[in-house]
Amino acid sequence: MDVLINVFIGLHIIGIASLLGGFLTQMKAMSTGTARFTPAMLHGALTMLVTGVVLVGLNQMDGNPVNNIKVGVKLAILFVILCLVYVKRDEEQVEKALFGTVGGLTVINIFIAVLWH
Ligand code: HEM
Repeated sequence: MDVLINVFIGLHIIGIASLLGGFLTQMKAMSTGTARFTPAMLHGALTMLVTGVVLVGLNQMDGNPVNNIKVGVKLAILFVILCLVYVKRDEEQVEKALFGTVGGLTVINIFIAVLWH
């Protein structure tokens, strides 16, 4: 079970890479208001959701304590990210503030994950 959990942590990290990478590669475009939400960002956010839920399930099955408040906060933040990226997925240009919000929320979620125990 430990191996399976670690595999899903790995997939969870691939999801972060896709979501955050999609954001970082467009920071220059963001400064001119020409960034857009790419499929990598949408699929990264979806990957976070699926792997996160599976990780909760696997940890519970294995009897490992899961910090429900922390996971709930991460889920709520990811929900906002997903809604924004999904709704605006076909727009060719996304305003600076909105694009920046998604990057900021992603970074906040990373630090919640690593600092809150
Ligand atoms: C953008 C959204 C997210 C980011 C950036 C993120 C980030 C991370 C990171 C860096 C880890 C590894 C470090 C650690 O173990 O704490 C992790 C683990 C984990 N994440 Fe996420 N996560 C996100 C969303 C979610 C969601 C939505 C869920 C659940 C519904 C979730 C559930 C978990 C679980 C259960 C673990 C491993 C167990 C633990 O906390 O020790 N994550 N996440």
